[in-house]
Amino acid sequence: MRRRRGARIHARTVICAGPEELLLTMDNEELGMIDIKVLMLDFIFAGMDTTSSTRLWVFVYLINHPTHQTRLQAEVDAITTPHRRLPPLDDLDALPHTRAVIKEIVRFAPFAPLALPHQMAAAAKFAGYHILAGAQVIYNVVGIHAAMDDSEFRPDRWIERGNLSIMEGNVTLGAGRRMCSGVHLATREMVLPVARAMACVGVANANGGWWLWRRRSG
Ligand code: HEM
Repeated sequence: MRRRRGARIHARTVICAGPEELLLTMDNEELGMIDIKVLMLDFIFAGMDTTSSTRLWVFVYLINHPTHQTRLQAEVDAITTPHRRLPPLDDLDALPHTRAVIKEIVRFAPFAPLALPHQMAAAAKFAGYHILAGAQVIYNVVGIHAAMDDSEFRPDRWIERGNLSIMEGNVTLGAGRRMCSGVHLATREMVLPVARAMACVGVANANGGWWLWRRRSG
């Protein structure tokens, strides 16, 4: 990873998620200390490797798709150059290419290819199958994605469809009532760091040597 020339940016901490918000919105239910600890652990475990490994995939794909990397840099430059700062949360809408690339990677490289097992609360019929109450159901994320869309890495599809929401058009963050409750936080935890990284550094394959690109200074 190499610092981009001429990138002068002030770091700002913007992500502030609030499990307390969740607790405060509960009117009648009482939570014990154990409940609260488990809830906190849920957020930590569910939110750590998921976002960090997805971000890692983003860099792998950007290394292999330098055209997209250049586009992402141009997109974030349009924010950093006039405002002299890294993009904060308010700029999410001004980062459509970054969001589209991340969404395409979420589709291509699902964190959990078989998601999490669900259990049938009641018996049901689906696609000609009779599924018993209590049966464990595992859904094949990769297979579902292959059936939903082609296998070309083409982030623009999401811009063309006007659909940048990370949880639509794929099942990487789960499906149904128990789908990932951290989806909005996850979006922000991926889009902002990737945009900020693109403002400061470029990534390339070490074997192929670093490639440098010219930037106007300032
Ligand atoms: C790229 C990032 C993420 C991915 C790919 C991801 C994926 C998933 C998946 C596949 C599930 C299971 C859904 C299902 O059973 O249908 C899940 C559940 C969950 N996720 Fe995420 N997640 C991500 C980020 C986060 C973050 C940042 C948080 C919060 C800090 C979070 C909190 C949770 C919680 C609490 C559940 C359990 C929901 C429930 O069972 O009701 N996740 N996530």
